[in-house]
Amino acid sequence: QLSPVDRAKYAAAVCAADMVESGMRLGLGTGSTAAWMVRRLGHRVQEEGLRITGVPTSSRTAELARQVGIDVVSLDEARWLDMTIDGADEFDPELALIKGGGGALLQEKIVATASDQMVVITDAAKEVQHLGAFPLPVEVIPFGWQASKALIEEILGTLDVMGTTASLRMEGDRPFITDEGNHILDLGLGRIGNARQLSLVLNQVPGVVENGLFIDICDIVLIGHADGRVERRD
Ligand code: A5P
Repeated sequence: QLSPVDRAKYAAAVCAADMVESGMRLGLGTGSTAAWMVRRLGHRVQEEGLRITGVPTSSRTAELARQVGIDVVSLDEARWLDMTIDGADEFDPELALIKGGGGALLQEKIVATASDQMVVITDAAKEVQHLGAFPLPVEVIPFGWQASKALIEEILGTLDVMGTTASLRMEGDRPFITDEGNHILDLGLGRIGNARQLSLVLNQVPGVVENGLFIDICDIVLIGHADGRVERRD
């Protein structure tokens, strides 16, 4: 028995997976919503003979995609993609996103920007007027991460955000490690006034690899509801 949130995520995931046509090269997102989408695609591959090539955005998604029978290749092998379908942690009226709650933001951003189209699948609770209530994930290399953190906190004090604290993401009693071997700092910003500026400034800090703001990348948001309805924003 699925919870209402899971039913909503499932509805959006199925709707996106059913937009996929044979012959497409697809970016496969990461997270619980994206996992429903990958399973649905696997079902279509098995049942309908749908022919697709998938580029996963994490080791978790790669494993699931292979399990369900999707032909998995690297982004370098695929070169370009027709569409990426992925979840998000927040989206605003301009379809700007916060991503990286699952720690896969770096591959997710590279794959999404290499795609003709990015479709985000979500439940209604992730819609916000202003991004920032969800802590913004920033991927940093392990070397000198505390210096990167201190500089980020100092810079945040000069920008249009409410909070200025960065915390190292943990997994049990150890720092979380991304697929690229890096750490994640989660920024408690409360409200982001100028997401474009923040994204550019963060990526200038030595040690920062990428941040979880996706601006002008997402084309369509599919918002699932527990009763099975799906709303489309584009
Ligand atoms: C993974 O790094 C994230 O960007 C996910 O897409 C995001 O956290 C959404 O996850 P859920 O689909 O599990 O809510």
